[in-house]
Amino acid sequence: MTTEVANPLRDARDRRLPRIAGPCSMVIFGVTGDLARKKVMPAIYDLANRGLLPPNFALVGFARQEWADQDFAQIVHDSVKQHSRTPFHEEVWQQLSEGIRYVAGDFGDDAAFDQLAAVLGDLDSMRGTGGNHAFYFSIPPRFFPVVVKQLKRSGLSESPGKAWRRVVIEKPFGHDLKSAQELNAVVDEVFEPSSVFRIDHYLGKETVQNLLAIRFANNLFEPIWNNNFVDSVQITMAEDIGIGSRAGYYDGIGAARDVIQNHLLQLLALTAMEEPLSFDADYVRMEKEKVLRAVTLPKDLSTHTARGQYAPGWQGGVPVIGYLEEAGIPPTSTTETFAAIRVDIDNRRWAGVPFYLRTGKRLGRRVTEIAVIFKRAPHLPFSQTSVEELSHNAIVFRVQPDEGMTVRFGSKVPGTGMEIRDVNMDFQYGDSFTQSSPEAYERLILDVLLGDPPLFPRIEEVETSWRILDPILDHWAKNGKPDQYTSGGWGPKSAYDMMAADGRTWRRP
Ligand code: BG6
Repeated sequence: MTTEVANPLRDARDRRLPRIAGPCSMVIFGVTGDLARKKVMPAIYDLANRGLLPPNFALVGFARQEWADQDFAQIVHDSVKQHSRTPFHEEVWQQLSEGIRYVAGDFGDDAAFDQLAAVLGDLDSMRGTGGNHAFYFSIPPRFFPVVVKQLKRSGLSESPGKAWRRVVIEKPFGHDLKSAQELNAVVDEVFEPSSVFRIDHYLGKETVQNLLAIRFANNLFEPIWNNNFVDSVQITMAEDIGIGSRAGYYDGIGAARDVIQNHLLQLLALTAMEEPLSFDADYVRMEKEKVLRAVTLPKDLSTHTARGQYAPGWQGGVPVIGYLEEAGIPPTSTTETFAAIRVDIDNRRWAGVPFYLRTGKRLGRRVTEIAVIFKRAPHLPFSQTSVEELSHNAIVFRVQPDEGMTVRFGSKVPGTGMEIRDVNMDFQYGDSFTQSSPEAYERLILDVLLGDPPLFPRIEEVETSWRILDPILDHWAKNGKPDQYTSGGWGPKSAYDMMAADGRTWRRP
């Protein structure tokens, strides 16, 4: 029998109810960029379509182009039509478009920011946005200082009475620990830490949140979630695409800074962290930070890391060019498009369990998964031949595509003999639930407007992640070029060697 004891630390909100944002507006800096067009603006429409935005919501674009409100509304319209997840409804669009405004100007231009302040003031009085404004920085970090300074100068960073002002920051949050700290100092000088929302869109993915539900809402998994039972963990984020038109952003950044520092280390944190006291932001972030601080690097970084650059090959039946032939990439570039690292976690739960993280572009297929691989049974009362097809038990969280979870274990092959082979037990979102998963950006933008921060990494987590990655990046910088790997494959030979050194192999997802 369980006795319910009221726990004052427990999150008191009923998170089953749809949460609807109150009166507010969102200003997007960098509206002409890919991210705004493909993700942010469509997600705003999807939220409106789901009835989760207030009817008087306002969307303000800020960019250099000399557009009128209607021109910007047309851009939003086109991006919504092309990229939104939910169907287009004219009535929803009409209501949303009434709140669309545009301000033209340079980030250094005082008059443009004064005009932005006037537009937001008008929206407060005409549409009742209540002085609540979120500023979305969909811009390269080099522009943060000037935009933050302008928001302060024009009085936009200060909110009257109970109204709020929030900033939303996209990655990359720096390119190493030092630059991340500098960037943070700039933002911190003007905005309270609780008003800063750093987006790591992986945390907005339904399956990533489900990792917490599966771990902490069940009694089935947690007892075996430790070094008594787990042999190793493999976290893979594979992409089949190349860098596309992102040469300017990607070259010099590379796979480790682009996704290991943020997405993969966050997945590691959620897989390995202790149970938080509650799902209040402070407790979730505290546990993630604790486990990230316990991460240690292998002594020999040459053996236990690997990096590569995609060479020409075949993808989906068509020939594709290599990284060095991509438009805008210098032929001498040493930027890695594949990175694999081993880390350990120096605590009682995980001592001795390696965590292998890998990511790459132009790999065999697009898949992100977390595979928890178990030790073999301590004793097998079968003949050697009966179990030669049996591998390690595993629990695999498929973040995307085919969102779900697979449990792999051994089972007898039907027949008179005793032959044991791996079988899979599958949970697929699509089979168990009728509603489709929202896009990560829908969830995260709504959380910003609601002021609900658990899914946004704190600066301490960002800094700790750079502390983990910096020595690896320094090591690579001193050690020549990345290895080449054929597009459409699973990465360079060094990645296989790295696992072989530990007597293990990568899963083929
Ligand atoms: C971004 C990276 O954060 O994530 C991109 O900058 C990458 O390089 C993208 O392609 C992948 O996101 P998703 O949601 O498609 O896995």
